[in-house]
Formats: sequence, C-alpha cells, structure tokens
Amino acid sequence: MEIVDLSVYRKDFPMLDHKTMNGYPLVYFDNAATTLKPRAVIDTVLKYYEDETTNVERGDSSLSAMVSAKYENVRKIIGRFIGCDPEEVVYTSGATGALNLLAYGYAEEYLHEGDVILTSEEEHASDLLPWFRVCGKTGAVIRYVPLTETGRITPENVEKAMDGQVKLVALAGVSNVLGYALDLKEIARIAHAHNALFAVDGAQAVPHFRIDVKDADIDFLAFSSHKMCGPTGAGVLYGKKELLKKMKPLELGGGSNARFERNGKIILREIPDKFEAGTQPIEGILGMGAAAEYLMGIGLENIHAYERKLRDELVERMRAMDNIVLYNPDAETGIVTFNVKGVFPQDAGSYLSSRGIALRSGQHCAKILPDFLKVPGTVRASLYFYNNREECERFLKALETCTVENAVSVFL
Ligand code: ALA
Repeated sequence: MEIVDLSVYRKDFPMLDHKTMNGYPLVYFDNAATTLKPRAVIDTVLKYYEDETTNVERGDSSLSAMVSAKYENVRKIIGRFIGCDPEEVVYTSGATGALNLLAYGYAEEYLHEGDVILTSEEEHASDLLPWFRVCGKTGAVIRYVPLTETGRITPENVEKAMDGQVKLVALAGVSNVLGYALDLKEIARIAHAHNALFAVDGAQAVPHFRIDVKDADIDFLAFSSHKMCGPTGAGVLYGKKELLKKMKPLELGGGSNARFERNGKIILREIPDKFEAGTQPIEGILGMGAAAEYLMGIGLENIHAYERKLRDELVERMRAMDNIVLYNPDAETGIVTFNVKGVFPQDAGSYLSSRGIALRSGQHCAKILPDFLKVPGTVRASLYFYNNREECERFLKALETCTVENAVSVFL
C-alpha cells in the first residue's frame, strides 16, 4: 500500500504552529499519554460553549433537541469507527472509567470463587487494578499470560494459559510501554473456544489502527477520547448488546431510569442509557465525535502505515547509537521504548525536555513490567501521524548529547 505523508495534517493542530518549550519549537512525542487536538475538535468544543450550551435529553427547547441529536449522533459515528451498533456505545469518562464499569458492573456480578481472569504483566494499572478488586470480592484469581522473551503476548501463549476456569481474558490491544499489537481476532477465537469473554483495553490501539469489533468478535472494548485527538473526560465502553443488557450500572441518577417509585422500585432505561446517570461531559462527547470523524477522514490504515514507517526509520537510527538500549525495536506502533546507557530514565526525560522534546519516562503506569524488563524504568517516545522526520532528527540529535553529565546538569 502507498504510504501517504500525513505530516501535511500538521496544519490542523494549533499547538504545532506556535508552541515552544524551553526555547525550542515543541517536539511532541508523548502521544501515548495524550494527543494534541486538531482545529475541528477545538471548534466543536468551543461551539458548544459559545453557541450551543444546553443540557441534552432533558429539555423541551429546540436548542436542547438540536444538541441532543448531535450528542446521540456521536454513538453512530463511534459505531462506524469501531464497527458496532450505536446502542452498544456506552459513554464513559475514558478507558479507565470503561474498564471500571466493566469490572464492577459485569465481572463482579458474574465471576465466582476459583474463576480465572487471564491478563498480563504488561497491563496498564487501569487494566489490572479493577481486576484485583474483582478477585478480592469474588474469590476469582488472576493468571498472567507468559510473555515471550521480548515481552510479546502471542496467541500460542494465550492458548496455553487457557483452561475451563478462565472466564475472562482482559488484555490491552497495544501495550502502552512496548507498543506491541495483539492478534485480537485470534485471541477472541481462543477465548471463545474456551467459553471465556474477551475484553480489550483499546486505549493505545483504537487511535492508531482500525479495530472492527464485530469482525474481531471482541466482547468488550474500552478506549479514551483524549488519546485519539479528542477532549479529555470522555471515552467509550463498547459491549455486545446481550452482555450490556446483563451488565449492572455503577451509578444511578437522572437520565438512566425510566421511572422510580416511593417504595424504592427503580425501572432502568434500556442500554446504553441505563449506564449514563447524570449529565455527561456533553462537550467532550461532541468533541470525541469530531475526533473520530477526523481520524476516519484521514483513514486509520493511512495513520497506521505512516506511523509505522516513521517509527521504523527512527528505530533504525537509534539502533546505530552506542548509548541507546532499545526494548521494542520491532513493535507495530509508534511507541519506541528505550534507555540511555548510564542515565536514569527520568533524568533522560528531563534532559530531552530541556531540548524541547516532550515524552514520558518511568514505569508508565505498568508497574509490574519493569521486573520483566529488569530495569527501574524506561524512556518512551510515542509518535502519531502529525509527527515528522524533522522532529525525529531533533530527537536523535538531543539523544547524542544525553550523557550522565549533561542530563544531571539540567537540574544544577
Ligand atoms: N496511559 C497513559 C500513558 O501510558 C497516561 O502514558
């Protein structure tokens, strides 16, 4: 497939136009933490504040009806984005909110003592801590899929870890540290062959390549708006209709009930409304819809191909540097995880920041993985489609001078 140079889209991102950091034009390589926002998303949010402020699905005004229609239309947009029905799109506060809803609304209800949740040691806290709590409450236990030598989760290892006790397979579609992409379709097939459900933390996957939940036969998919060019505070839990119908809401309140009586009887609304008590972040959800449309306009296959080419070129150059240790040279996504020899990861991060480069160092919320990698932490550069070769050159140049003396002197 022809790889389109997507850095032409840089013009859509106001921050790339003017932002400097420590006297240098900003090189934003922290996209796994959050992405920049394009004008289309910013305008959508501003329009809600400047011209469309109203509550949704509660008012009798034409204004409320118009914004309610836009708000509901975001479910259709997300439906096109991930290949599901609009009613299978539950609005949440983000991937973390979605995974917590799934854990306490579904897993805690249906798992029992001795059941197994199969997950991995490279999961982000948001895809582990809720499962720990579910296990504490139900007597279910955690089992970790063995990782390969390079930290990958393979379908073969998932198959080996399965037995009749596994009721839920909960894995990130892409590791937020190592950037490896899972074979979601094959893992779903394996999980289902053992009568287990497959829940995907899609925070690092959904923004970077097309996931079709029906085609891959995924049972649950959680993701955040802010990692896909949208606003913070919004996200999605996709669930298959029949599973969402069985799932319990965590919050009760206005908008999620059909009626209630003085004797305490509550009749909930249908899915997805029964999960959305109280006023949701309306502007965030509208912005998330604009972000999904924006990404679909560029084409998720173009985003994936460009990002991969850019990271492969960058990794090629980093491989040739004596002072760099790479942990995921062959990952499929824009996450490049490394250390600078002899330099503590956070010192390297601060030094690179002093040169205008924004990235993340440390444990990246995946606090078991360093034991596997046998390092206290790593430095993570995470690319997106608006990054370009010139930024990679600046990053490489800064890495050349990232020595113990230079890195520590940043603090002196
Ligand atoms: N989950 C985000 C990260 O990996 C914050 O940096």
